[in-house]
Amino acid sequence: MTSSIRTYDLWKEYETGGHDGTALRGIELEIAKGQIIALLGKSGSGKTTLLNLLAGLDEPTRGRVEIDGMDLKGLGEKGRTELRRHKLGFVFQFFNLLPTLTSLENVALALELAGRPDEKLAGESIALVGLAGKEDRYPHELSGGEQQRIAIARALVKNPPIILADEPTGNLDSHTGTQILELLTGRCRELGTTLVMVSHSLKTCEYADRVLRMSDGRIFEEESCEGLAP
Ligand SMILES: Nc1ncnc2c1ncn2[C@@H]1O[C@H](COP(=O)(O)OP(=O)(O)OP(=O)(O)O)[C@@H](O)[C@H]1O
Ligand SMILES: [Mg+2]
Repeated sequence: MTSSIRTYDLWKEYETGGHDGTALRGIELEIAKGQIIALLGKSGSGKTTLLNLLAGLDEPTRGRVEIDGMDLKGLGEKGRTELRRHKLGFVFQFFNLLPTLTSLENVALALELAGRPDEKLAGESIALVGLAGKEDRYPHELSGGEQQRIAIARALVKNPPIILADEPTGNLDSHTGTQILELLTGRCRELGTTLVMVSHSLKTCEYADRVLRMSDGRIFEEESCEGLAP
């Protein structure tokens, strides 16, 4: 069976004008369809860089990424945009909601871009993350945690086969964080969605099938979260 996500000897070197800008050092990764992954690692270890490459938002210096057996490079810029619109949900570390659109419009836009406009479904997705009544708020009228939940609603709404979530509960108190974690992983299990969740919190591990840890641009498989520093 084709893997959901596959990388081959993936390297990323940022142009830094002097000091070493190597953020990824030969990542080999294979993630099966429907797997739920917790991706842990210290600040600066390369987690966001890896997610950006998996989503085709940035290009590797060397190596390649395959999504559902398709080589991202071979798809070209246009193909990668289409792939993101139809196949990927992305929760950015800093949410990336469009500031001039309301909550509802931000979520609805994801459906529009996937060619399936449906305002009612967008509203339901907002209710699902516990923000019914805040559909007409602009991002700057929401707290950080609320913006994060809208970003999660936006990723979930189109039922994509893959969701990449960068610190999806990073700005939430532990109670809301647990609720959102349950919601996100529960929906993904129900629908067979592949989910990669970056986190600093060991709590995330409890909800994952597999735990990966990044350290200095390399990736390590962990048996469990026990023994991992928070
Ligand atoms: N655009 C960039 N230009 C240059 N260096 C970068 C760039 N983005 C990230 N880096 C560097 O690459 C390394 C990995 O960064 P990355 O953002 O992937 O880390 P991270 O694991 O997501 O960290 P955090 O947990 O703080 O979000 C860091 O050393 C960072 O300084
Ligand atoms: Mg990051």
